[in-house]
Amino acid sequence: MAIERTFSIIKPNAVAKNVIGSIFKIIEESGLKIVATKKIQMTKAQAEGFYAVHSERPFFGTLCDFMCSGPCVVSVLEGENAIAKYREIMGATNPADAAEGTIRKLYADDIEANAVHGSDAPETAAVEISYFFNALELVG
Ligand code: PPS
Repeated sequence: MAIERTFSIIKPNAVAKNVIGSIFKIIEESGLKIVATKKIQMTKAQAEGFYAVHSERPFFGTLCDFMCSGPCVVSVLEGENAIAKYREIMGATNPADAAEGTIRKLYADDIEANAVHGSDAPETAAVEISYFFNALELVG
């Protein structure tokens, strides 16, 4: 399995809980490496651009409002099978369905304020990484 990169967001509800370090610990203990990270305050336009693929879904407006309701931490994670591995440790999108010990089981409040985002495929990972980071910020 080749080394892969994925994109992560620690969402405003998890940042507000002061659990950035706890989430990074779970990420690092899974074997993934944090190759870039920064704390940002998304604008509404940035959130709408990031979630453009979901613009027709009924929750689009509230999801974008939530994502710019406070700071987020965006990161690039690297490792073997990084996309699938990160989605496994995040847990199910709806925390009611998330397995014990996953990030969402521990820190999500509901299906919208679900603590973290992770890319779902190599193509989306590449687009999402370049949405928030330039090449000089990625230090393997
Ligand atoms: S996934 O994880 O992408 O396969 O899940 P999906 O169901 O396609 O959801 C895409 C993103 O939308 C969020 N979501 C919701 N937000 C608010 N309300 C409802 N009902 C809802 N359902 C899904 C979900 O958390 C995903 O956000 P990201 O940031 O991409 O993980």
